[in-house]
Amino acid sequence: MKKILLLLLPLVALHVSAQGLKDVFKKDFLVGVSLNPRNVRNANEKDLVRKEFNSVTCENAMKPGELHPSPNEWKWEEADRIANFCRENGIKMRGHCLVWHNQFAEWMYYDDKGGFVDKETFYARLKDHIQTVMNRYKDITYCWDVVNEAMSDSGENPYRESKLYQLCGDEFIAKAFQFAREADPKAILFYNDYNETNPRKSKNIYEMVLRMRSEGVPIDGIGMQGHYNIYGPDAKELEDALTLYAPLVEHIHITELDVRINKEMGGQLKFSKEGASVNDTIQALHAQQYERLFKSFRKFHDKIDCVTFWNLHDGCSWLGEKNYPLLFDAALQPKPAYYRLIK
Ligand code: XIL
Repeated sequence: MKKILLLLLPLVALHVSAQGLKDVFKKDFLVGVSLNPRNVRNANEKDLVRKEFNSVTCENAMKPGELHPSPNEWKWEEADRIANFCRENGIKMRGHCLVWHNQFAEWMYYDDKGGFVDKETFYARLKDHIQTVMNRYKDITYCWDVVNEAMSDSGENPYRESKLYQLCGDEFIAKAFQFAREADPKAILFYNDYNETNPRKSKNIYEMVLRMRSEGVPIDGIGMQGHYNIYGPDAKELEDALTLYAPLVEHIHITELDVRINKEMGGQLKFSKEGASVNDTIQALHAQQYERLFKSFRKFHDKIDCVTFWNLHDGCSWLGEKNYPLLFDAALQPKPAYYRLIK
């Protein structure tokens, strides 16, 4: 008997280590990752994706400015490369993103003389963009971030005063969701934003989505980016936001999770690339914060159907390696936070 057990032991160990995050959270939600085209050219990184994740987002490759830099120019190569990797491996994709004030197809705003076009011209261009992109990836994208970051971080106006807003007011949000629904009635459509645990911003997001839905705008879900740090949000702040959004929409996704080791948080594109020095205390706080976050996500597993990490490993994080944000280091080795989650 003892002999048989000893023989079985390596098999059991193999089975345990073969479990990825996607298996550990199988009953709760999909576990996703955002990828750049280099990730899917690298055999070790591809193995890591296959082992750990069952949802993929393009970090940049499907953004309007990347795909559609000028009126008659479409650049599909990088997005296709990532989509084909997902097709070959049976991994679903979150589409990201159709309308954002950054990395946008800026030409859509302007006429030949450099002035703003009228709204109708802008909407015709936007509709063509949204529907062309969604049609191309319809077979593989189960959802889309339709509008990204339309709300402000501070000030009187709940809306971000972007060029989109200057040209269309908040109507561009409604139009974008309508164009998206027409293109693919099966895709789950998300409004996505950061600092969603800030009470002012979460209230503004809540009120915008509530009003739009009451007017028939097809917003199915709220994407909470989740660019957090080791100090916050705490469980209460996060769960307050989840409690607010849960009755409002059918789906919540955590769309861009990372945990910095300095005090910055949010999706603003300006940030410090300096973390703090990584010592035992910082590592423990980092692991603890991930554990706390996933405990809260699990509590809301009925609503949260996907949690996506923003980048595969620290070496390719948009925040830089020194911010120590992810579960894998630049050598693809799991960090303490990974073991905490797997456990
Ligand atoms: C970031 C990418 O990670 C960077 O490579 C790029 O330079 C800027 O955009 N919120 C979002 C993401 O919705 O699309 C952003 O991604 C990070 C903040």
